[in-house]
This record gives sequence, C-alpha cells and structure tokens, in this order.
Amino acid sequence: MTVEINKNFCSLEDNYLFSKIRAKKRDYEEKHPDQIIINLGVGDVIGALTESAINALKSGIEAYKSVENFKGYPPEQGYPFLREKIVNYYKKFNVNLDIDSIFISDGAKSDLSNIIEIFSDLTALIPTPVYPVYVDTNIIKGNKIKYLECIPENNFLPLPNKQLKGSYLIYLCSPNNPTGAVFSYEDLKKWVDFANSTGSIIIFDSAYEAFIRSGVPHSIFEIEGSENCSIEIASFSKRAGFTGLRLGYTIINRKSKRMNEFALCWARRQATEFNGVSYLIQKAGEATLTELGLAECQSKIDYYLKNAEIIKKVFIDKGFNVYGGTDSPYIWIDCKKDSWEFFDEMLEKYQIVGTAGAGFGKGGEHFYRLSAFALRKDILLAVNRLKK
Ligand code: MLT
Repeated sequence: MTVEINKNFCSLEDNYLFSKIRAKKRDYEEKHPDQIIINLGVGDVIGALTESAINALKSGIEAYKSVENFKGYPPEQGYPFLREKIVNYYKKFNVNLDIDSIFISDGAKSDLSNIIEIFSDLTALIPTPVYPVYVDTNIIKGNKIKYLECIPENNFLPLPNKQLKGSYLIYLCSPNNPTGAVFSYEDLKKWVDFANSTGSIIIFDSAYEAFIRSGVPHSIFEIEGSENCSIEIASFSKRAGFTGLRLGYTIINRKSKRMNEFALCWARRQATEFNGVSYLIQKAGEATLTELGLAECQSKIDYYLKNAEIIKKVFIDKGFNVYGGTDSPYIWIDCKKDSWEFFDEMLEKYQIVGTAGAGFGKGGEHFYRLSAFALRKDILLAVNRLKK
C-alpha cells in the first residue's frame, strides 16, 4: 500500500477563489502594462494602520530588548490583557463573557477552518452564496453538506424550515460575506431555538460586525439560549486593519456544560497544533480596543462605508438591483448574466477587478461582488469609468 493523497481534495474547485481572482488580475496586467487596474476584488484593507496600533507596536518592541521583559511563547489562549479587553468590548452589546471562553488566534479564516477538527463526522448546513472557506474545509474533511438558498426573496437570509431533519453544524455569517445581509434578533433567535432543539451547533462568523450601523445584533451571544449551542469566530482584520498583522479569536462559552466539552477539545487542539500570536500583535490588538483605538477604527470603517455608498449608487443608477453596502463593506450586484462573464467584462471595459458571484457557490451565479476597501480616489476613478 502506498501513501495516497486525501481524495477529498479532488472534489474542490481547482483554485481557491481569491487565488483565481489574483491570477486573472495578474494576467490582465501582464497583457496591458499601461492600464491602471482598480482592485475591488478581495476584501483587503488599505493603510495606514491606526495610530494607537502603531504606538502599541513601537512600545511593545521594548519588551524584547531586555532579559526581564522578554516574551517567548505566548499563553496558550492568548494574553489576559487582550482577552480582558475583548470581554469589555462585548459589554457594549450586553454580552457577559468569561475570559476563559476566549481563545486568541491568528485570524478568523484559520479558526473557521480548524474548528471542524473538534467535531465528529457531521452534516454541515451552509448558506449559498457563502465565504468559500466553510464549504472547502468541510469537503476536505469529508463531511456531508446541505445548502441553504440565499436569494433576494428571503433577503439572502435563510431560516430554519421543516425539511431540516436532524442535527447540523450551521454556518451563519452576519453581516454576510458576500451579500452584506444582516440577521435581526428575531431571525437569529429562530436559528438558536432550532440549534438547541436539534442538538446542532452554530458557527457564527462575525468578522464584519464593526460595520453594523442599523441596530442588529453584533454577536450571536446577544441571543438568549445561544450560550448552549454557539461558537463565535471574530477577527481584527476588517475591524482594525489587521489583514497583514493577523489576529482573531474564537468564543466558546465554558459555563455551559455542553459547550465546555467543545471548549476543552478546542483548547487541546490549539495547544497541540498552534503556538499562538506574538506579544507584539496582541499588544496592537489591545490598543485597538481602547476608547481611542475603537474611535479610530470606526472612522476608518465610516470611510469604507462611504465608499460603498458611492459605488452602490452608480450601479443603482444604471438600473441594477444592488444589495449590501450599508452594514457591510461588500456590494452585491445582480448582474443578470454569468458572473465570470460579467467579471471579464468589468475588467476589459473598465479595468475594475471585482469578484464573480459564482466563486461563492451556486447561489452566487448571476451576481457580482465589489469590495469597498479602497482609497476614495480609486473609488471615484471607478465611478468615472463606469459613468462613461
Ligand atoms: C473576502 O474578500 O471575502 C475576504 O477578504 C477574504 C478573507 O477574509 O479571507
């Protein structure tokens, strides 16, 4: 017997979505070196990092200069100073967390991928369109997947229904990537009740919560009963501009007997397979959660939301049905044709890189996503090109 590859990899698309987008952009650039491309594809933040974070990085480096203050391996679940700040942050939403329920990591993407190691074989319940990581990781693990359709008729927010029998690992993302849709308290409560009554677990991806402006929940833990059935995965990437620094966290409520079993497995998994995030980055993360740090981050997010408003208007004026962009940095456009064809057209005619909806799964066909993470001058350049 020879060692074989994990055959589940053969069931994946050839390339990860954003690798494909980058490759297409590169190809176009090589063929048209004189053209200026506006990149509204992958949701990567722009600089500069906030002043609080920069100052924390600068002062954090001091610790490494002396024997007394030197920092080696960080504590397994992250430094208490950062976890305490996160506990405080959630108090704004009337959520009382226990510091031991917070696990610091190098970002939401890794946690969303790795978390499935702590579950036995299962059926994942995944909305479509969706952030491709949920689907790909379940395919790699060999889990069954059942899809939930997100369409304009349900505001891209599917709810539990009578056809759903048994227990599931349920993926919810609000504000949603890619559609920008946000769950209300009432609708999240329906999912929490469903999860508790069927023995399911909700994986709640709150990577974009800082973009919320409309009074909907920021955390699944705002919903009564969620503490016994939910895991929340959050990130500093979009909230504080840390896509390059890498910082995130997972919350599993240790006070719930049921969830504590998952928390123990997660702690064990992380201790074995992960060595934590550097002191320096955790100091920077802490700084973004001070009063000043939060205000600085919010002003960056206001800037992105204004970008979203500007670009959204052009498509509305052109007669497209456009969604998202209000509690979210993503604009979701019904492009009424094959989404890769539309992607190519946008690139060829306007030198704008977006993301073809089909890359987010079957439910994204005929849609196109634009990211508002860009400099205002580039957004205005895109608007000018589109108006012409
Ligand atoms: C996106 O564009 O959907 C995100 O930036 C991808 C990510 O956060 O990994």
